[in-house]
Amino acid sequence: MYKFADYAESANYIKSRISDFRPDVLMILGSGLGFMGDMVENPVYVEYKNIPNFKISTVPDHRGRLVFGKLAGQNVMVMQGRLHCYEGYEAADVAFPVRVAKLLGVHSMLITNASGGINFDYNVGDFMLISDHIRLFDIHPVRGENIEELGDRFFDMTYTYTEEYRQIAKCKAEELGIKIREGVYFYATGPQFETPAEIKAMRILGADAVGMSTIPEVITARHCGLKILGISLITNLAAGMAKKEVTVQEVNEEAEKAETSFAKLVMTVLPEMKG
Ligand code: HPA
Repeated sequence: MYKFADYAESANYIKSRISDFRPDVLMILGSGLGFMGDMVENPVYVEYKNIPNFKISTVPDHRGRLVFGKLAGQNVMVMQGRLHCYEGYEAADVAFPVRVAKLLGVHSMLITNASGGINFDYNVGDFMLISDHIRLFDIHPVRGENIEELGDRFFDMTYTYTEEYRQIAKCKAEELGIKIREGVYFYATGPQFETPAEIKAMRILGADAVGMSTIPEVITARHCGLKILGISLITNLAAGMAKKEVTVQEVNEEAEKAETSFAKLVMTVLPEMKG
């Protein structure tokens, strides 16, 4: 389990690499959006492998580095490459960079992912603003001795997904002609895609989409008081809904198809995330 000093050590190393630059928004970008890190102006790259206490992503094509600089007028810290619990990491490892970002002065987090659509009204290619989530079974990312400098032992999750940011995202999507939904994300740790029976159960429980990422970071960000905007891309219909298997090829292909509109949406919403 990490101590405050571990987060502080990472943050201090990063500060030594980015001189007086201070990020305001942490961006954790899912499948298909990693390229947005390359759009950052005057970028300063900090490799995960050089940062004390950072773990390294094992997912192919996920680059392991932080990118600091300006994007759409915002001072950003972009994670190019994220960790997942299915890689063997603890939830606290996956969320480690979020607390480091907090210590660097970040006030908001924009997080995206690919997900399977559970809601019968959803189509492949739709975007969904995450309004809430369900996480049932995995180990909690902030379990263990509470780090008082970062947040309270017990904390609220009622207003996790900042209403103001969701409103802005809805307006901007409408202006761009991008269809956007709002719904509940069910966190399933993977690496298997779900069974059809699990998907039915998730629907009954109130889920609209399912995915294997995002929630450890969201919980940790909420604990330390960051404002949060989460956007899912529906890359496939969830298991049992389409009379075919769920494949990672489909997920990746759909993520690639949507990348231009996804990036456009992110670029128009980002300047409005003012903390
Ligand atoms: N299930 C879990 N994770 C996912 C899916 C899915 O159907 N699609 C993309 N990520």
